[in-house]
Amino acid sequence: MSTDERSVIDLFSLQGKVAVVTGACGWLGSAMSRALAEAGAQVVVTSRDGGQAAEFAATLPGDGHLGLGFSQGDTDTIPGFVSEVVERMGKIDVLVNNAYGGTAPDIDNATAEDFNQAYHVGVTAYFLLARDVMLHLREQQRPGSIINIASMYGVVASYPSAYEGLSAGSPPNYHALKGGVVHLTRHLAAYWAKYNIRVNAIAPGPFPKPEVRDSVEGFIPRLEEKVPLGRMGRPEELKGAVVLLASDAGSYITGQNLLVDGGWTAW
Ligand SMILES: NC(=O)c1ccc[n+]([C@@H]2O[C@H](COP(=O)([O-])OP(=O)(O)OC[C@H]3O[C@@H](n4cnc5c(N)ncnc54)[C@H](O)[C@@H]3O)[C@@H](O)[C@H]2O)c1
Repeated sequence: MSTDERSVIDLFSLQGKVAVVTGACGWLGSAMSRALAEAGAQVVVTSRDGGQAAEFAATLPGDGHLGLGFSQGDTDTIPGFVSEVVERMGKIDVLVNNAYGGTAPDIDNATAEDFNQAYHVGVTAYFLLARDVMLHLREQQRPGSIINIASMYGVVASYPSAYEGLSAGSPPNYHALKGGVVHLTRHLAAYWAKYNIRVNAIAPGPFPKPEVRDSVEGFIPRLEEKVPLGRMGRPEELKGAVVLLASDAGSYITGQNLLVDGGWTAW
């Protein structure tokens, strides 16, 4: 006999929850923010440009969303940012660590600085943000969900032939840091499970932005050959994964990396 009589639709509901999404105005962040709002959450969308964040927040369905300027390049600002969100929204239930803006050097020319900068924004800031949200949840003794956006390239190497002719195809610093995100996720999940805080990753496969799609002739068909579903992902195809992990529908899922990749890593 089940102890939770809620319907599956209710389990997926984010009514009454506050979700924070970093890099929310970008290609994938905007689709995931919309999904969380559609599921009933009040969404705090952040961008380095506060005006852009506020404008985007106003387009989301439902009430009570907030757009805030936030740059994770300066990690000293993270505690103040989390405090501000808690002050204005009362709490945080869900964090989606999505922002990323590292350099994209080719493998022959990548420097230590390329690695340091990527790591700072893409791993260090993810950890510090997650920890401050955990401290807030622990203090309020409430469950929560932290979702780190990784990549299929944190799990598998890319095919050199698929990236031939692209000056900065598949940067080594990106591969290193996304592998770090996947593994950091497992570590945090194990340590924070006792507070009922779940930590998972979503690893998107190929979701090229329009400008990447148009950059080199023949590139997209080369990638498509590697995908069992035979096509590139569309941002809205991440909506289900983020709501599953954010909501009570995913209440027994932690420490996982959910690959949304059209089957790329299946063969
Ligand atoms: N698009 C893909 O094919 C793909 C595939 C796998 C993983 N991902 C991951 O998905 C996430 C979103 O990527 P996207 O494709 O939407 O790219 P995007 O460039 O559209 O979005 C990234 C966002 O992060 C913001 N950002 C960059 N540096 C920042 C900083 N220092 N502080 C705060 N915000 C900053 C950018 O302004 C942008 O809004 C990233 O973590 C990326 O690695 C993307």
